[in-house]
Amino acid sequence: SKVISLAVIPGDGIGPEVTAEAVKVLTAVTKDSPASFDLTEYSLGAEHWLQTGETLPEETLAAIKGHDAILFGAVGAAPGDTAIPSGLIERELLLKLRFNLDHFVNLRPSKLFPGVASPLANPGDIDFIVVREGTEGPYVGNGGSLRTGTAHEIATEVSLNTAYGVERVVRDAFRRANDRPRKKLTLVHKHNVLVYAGKLWKRIVDEVAPEFPNVAVDYLHVDAATIFLTTDPSRFDVIVTDNLFGDILTDLAAAVTGGIGLAASGNINMEGTFPSMFEPVHGSAPDIAGQQKADPTAAILSAALLLHHLGFHAEAERVEQAVEADVAGRSGQARKTAEIGDAIAAAVS
Ligand code: NAD
Ligand code: IPM
Ligand code: MN
Repeated sequence: SKVISLAVIPGDGIGPEVTAEAVKVLTAVTKDSPASFDLTEYSLGAEHWLQTGETLPEETLAAIKGHDAILFGAVGAAPGDTAIPSGLIERELLLKLRFNLDHFVNLRPSKLFPGVASPLANPGDIDFIVVREGTEGPYVGNGGSLRTGTAHEIATEVSLNTAYGVERVVRDAFRRANDRPRKKLTLVHKHNVLVYAGKLWKRIVDEVAPEFPNVAVDYLHVDAATIFLTTDPSRFDVIVTDNLFGDILTDLAAAVTGGIGLAASGNINMEGTFPSMFEPVHGSAPDIAGQQKADPTAAILSAALLLHHLGFHAEAERVEQAVEADVAGRSGQARKTAEIGDAIAAAVS
C-alpha cells in the first residue's frame, strides 16, 4: 500500500467548503484501494494574511515542497475589499506556488457532460483540454510604474516568454494531443499584434510538430478563438496557449460547458521535481461564501486529476464516473455543497 503525503490548502471564501468535499471523496475512493492519504492542512490565504501578515513564508514553502501533491481550494478577497491589497495573495501565495514549484503545465479540461445544460443553443460534443503555460507570460511581475499616481503615470507589464519555457509546454501539449483520439492541436496566440512572443510560439510549434506527424496543427488568434469557443466549441481537441490567454479562455470554456462550478485544473510539474497542485478553476466566490451554496464538483474533479497524476487511474475514473452520474441527475434543484459531496463520496465507496 502507498501512503500519499498530501498538502491541503483550503484558502478563503468557498475554498474551505469545496475542499472539504474533495477530501471526503478522496478518502472514500481510497478506502479499499492500495492508496491512502496522509493530510497536512496549511492555513494560508487572505484571511491568514489579515491575522498574521504572512503570505507564504519560506519555511512553509519548503514544507509544502516535501509533499507528494497539493490540493488547493481558492484564495483571494472580495473584489471590493480594501483591507487586502488586490493581487497580494494571488501573487505572493498562488503564483508563488506555481512559479516556485515549476508548474509549467496548467491543465484545464473542458467537457460537456451528458445531461448538463450549456448556455449555447447548439453546443455539440464539447471535449477539449487547454494546456495553459503556467510559469511565464504577463504573469511574471515584470513591470513597474513611473510617476505613480500622477496624470503622467507610466505603467508597464511586460510578458516574458523564453524558448525553453515555450518549448516544454508546447511539447507537452503535442504529447497530450497525440494520446487523444482526434489528435488535434490548436495554438492560440495573437501574433498579428504581439509579434515577438507570437513569432516565438509559432516557431516552437513548427519546430516540434515533425516529432508528432500524426497530430494535426492549426492556429487561431485569441480573439477569433473566443468566437469559435461559443459558435463551434466541438472543433477543439487540445489548445496550447500562453498564461493570460489561457486564464481567460478557460473561464469562457467553463461557462459553455455548464459553469465554473464544474471546471477542474491541475498545475503540473511534468518533471516531477516538485509536487503538482490541483485546484478548481474558480476563485473564492465571496458572493456565496459560507452559505453551502458553492458547487464542489470542480474541486472533486480536480481531486480526480490528482489521482490520475499519481497513477491511481482506476480510482480517478471512479470519481469521474460518479461525478458524471451526479451531474446527469441534477434537475436544477438547489443542493448544499456538502450534499453534493456526500452523494459523490457515497457513489465511489
Ligand atoms: P470567482 O470564480 O471567485 O467567482 C465568479 C462567479 O462565479 C461568482 O458569481 C461566484 O459566486 C461564481 N462561482 C465561483 N465558483 C463557484 C462554485 N464552485 N459554485 C457556484 N458558483 C461559483 O471569481 P472572482 O469573483 O473574479 O474572484 C473572487 C476572488 O477569487 C478574487 O480575489 C480573485 O483574485 C480570486 N481568485 C482566486 C482563484 C484561485 O484561487 N485559484 C481563481 C480565480 C479568482
Ligand atoms: C485562475 C485565477 C488565477 C490566475 C489568479 C487568481 C492569479 O484566475 O487560477 O484562473 O489568473 O491564474
Ligand atoms: Mn482565472
